[in-house]
Amino acid sequence: MPELIHPLDAYRAQAQQRMDPAAWAYLNGGAVDELSVQRNTDLFREIRLVPRVGVDVGHLLTSQQMFGIDVAFPLLLAPTALQRLFSDAGEQGTVEGARSTDTVTVISMESSVATRELAESAGPFLQHLYIQRDRKLTEDLVRMAEETGARGIVVTLDNPVPGIRYRQDAGMTALPAGIGRANLESGGVPTLTGGYLDPTVTWADIEWLVSLTDLPVIGKGILHPDDADRAVRAGVGGVIVSNHGGRNIDTVAHPMECVRAVTESVAGRVPVLLDGGIRRGTDILKALALGADAVLIGRPYVWGLAAAGAAGVADVIRILQDEFHAAMAMCGAATLADITPALILGSDQ
Ligand code: FNR
Ligand code: LAC
Repeated sequence: MPELIHPLDAYRAQAQQRMDPAAWAYLNGGAVDELSVQRNTDLFREIRLVPRVGVDVGHLLTSQQMFGIDVAFPLLLAPTALQRLFSDAGEQGTVEGARSTDTVTVISMESSVATRELAESAGPFLQHLYIQRDRKLTEDLVRMAEETGARGIVVTLDNPVPGIRYRQDAGMTALPAGIGRANLESGGVPTLTGGYLDPTVTWADIEWLVSLTDLPVIGKGILHPDDADRAVRAGVGGVIVSNHGGRNIDTVAHPMECVRAVTESVAGRVPVLLDGGIRRGTDILKALALGADAVLIGRPYVWGLAAAGAAGVADVIRILQDEFHAAMAMCGAATLADITPALILGSDQ
């Protein structure tokens, strides 16, 4: 009997073979005991679907407008730092793979290729940043985003201090020669993590960031419904429910345990996205069923990048897209609006 190997797991295995073990540890590891890293994927596998039948699913509608962008399929690429650690193609491979599949990329502030170099080959993209201790540098990053044509700014809120990561620290204490944070070169942040984080950031700083630009500012790393409401009142144009892939604090709640309360609190004022542990098309459907408008993936597209460059990134996206389409059809959901809590076993609807 042929062995069952999910194609994303095949990319993961190929990526591991090709990658330096220290980079592998940085990519796949997380905070302290990595219980949240593990649970992020495990919890999705335990949620049961209750499909509806007898529905015409001959034509599936999966596109929506988000941040002024036509999003064809509700999946974006999450910001992941320093991609030349994982593949010589680096962020160039990611933006090309995303563009070939009409997928929006969030370019990390900590990209190893500068956003200015990526913008030309990228499709519609969002620029990620952390508010810098040096607020002038923060403003420079905002102007860079505007000048390069970013369609929005993703500000990460769940990382006031570096996560404690024993696996990462055992593998990599400094960045290899020739790989750096290209967008921050003038700001000079020498260590692997931390030098660019400001633990004093508050909602007042988010309000200031929003006031700097006409671009939508999307708050990433929100789990509590009151924080989601506070973010919307601060003027954000979107909220990303995330535990940072389990990389910052261990035993943190799963984004799926928080997303319904967040969407109730946001009450349709801005889009709500979710990331952490999405590995299958059914995971996307489950996140949408509990209220997310779209999801992001982090590690899986990096496995594709490391295994096969831009083509690997595109293939990972297509695999999830095919699975998502099948899941919609099997669940009797012809449109995104048909994906409701009623599809989840035991949800109180
Ligand atoms: C990240 N993540 C991240 N988040 C962020 O806001 N800014 C960043 O620069 C990075 N960098 C980064 C590097 C690497 C190697 C990984 C794996 C992750 C977190 C990322 O955006 C996202 O929240 C998680 O990766 C989602 O979980 P999954 O899909 O990896 O399980
Ligand atoms: C990480 C930081 C860069 O998750 O956000 O590695």
